[in-house]
Amino acid sequence: MTVNVFAWRRHGVHMTNRILVSRHVFPEAIDILKAAGDLQYHDSSNGLSPGELRAAVEDKQALVCQLTDRIDAGLMDAGGSLRVIANVAVGFDNIDIPAATERGIIVTNTPGVLTDTTADLAFTLMVAAARRICEADRFLRAGRWQQWEIDMMTGHDIHGHTLGIFGLGRIGRGMARRAGGFDMHVIYHDVARATPEQEAAWGIEYVDRDTLFRESDFLSIHVPLNEQTRHAVGKDEFELMKPTAVLVNTSRGPVVDEQALADALEQGKIASAGLDVFEEEPSVEPRLLALENIVVVPHIGSASINTRTRMCTMAAENTVAVLSGRRPPNPVNPEVLEQGSQT
Ligand code: DGY
Repeated sequence: MTVNVFAWRRHGVHMTNRILVSRHVFPEAIDILKAAGDLQYHDSSNGLSPGELRAAVEDKQALVCQLTDRIDAGLMDAGGSLRVIANVAVGFDNIDIPAATERGIIVTNTPGVLTDTTADLAFTLMVAAARRICEADRFLRAGRWQQWEIDMMTGHDIHGHTLGIFGLGRIGRGMARRAGGFDMHVIYHDVARATPEQEAAWGIEYVDRDTLFRESDFLSIHVPLNEQTRHAVGKDEFELMKPTAVLVNTSRGPVVDEQALADALEQGKIASAGLDVFEEEPSVEPRLLALENIVVVPHIGSASINTRTRMCTMAAENTVAVLSGRRPPNPVNPEVLEQGSQT
């Protein structure tokens, strides 16, 4: 089914826009959205059940949603007048993009603004895991520190070691920038290789996939989740990695096979891990939680006040742009806009 995008653009400005905000957002976004139409704001962190979301979206032209909302074809059909789905996230694996495109619905995301904040967290997890920061904190709080000892809580150095970046998008490049300041050697693998000039400027070296896993002392994942990357890091990859290697994941949980990761950590195939994301959030594999040698945080990669506020206002700005017949700053499926202009 293809919607005549041009028609809604033409008529959209004359009708009252109805906007659904599925979950709590920073208030600055609400101020922007209020000016653009009638707002139904579900101001709760719990979100709506799939059935409630379907009912709520029925008469809406815009949906502002989050990565915890599953936006599938059925929901889009329930919201037959939807023009825009604005995800408050850079990732959009929670949304069926082909289904949205087929229905002429523009999907937007929030790229760029969270790059450095997320790279900061990825680097922090890497350092924390290598230097056993959380383990040492637990040790001290438990009253177990009796005396200074030469080999107490000894971990791994960051400087002089090799950081492997799996997926050289904005956040992967942010990680490379940080690694430069720590005197690390940076290798990367991506389906698209950077130009030699970019590699020289960013201080990174391209390697094939196996070499990345084999040579990295620290392996940081920055690929999006899709059918090609689901469980891209599993048993075979852990077999390749060094027993001293540290895995860092701030992208999406299902990129890593969590059972294989638990096996690898338990069997000493890798040394440790810093994890921000998990396969079945908010659940975490109990075998992982039983391990001392990992650092786990609850999907807070972009969670600084500034960045999360800006993500919310970006989603609001994307929404307002579409509802006013303008090109949104961050379309994920721009072909919908092109279809419209050719109509
Ligand atoms: C995203 O934006 O995709 C993150 O996972 C949340 O910031």
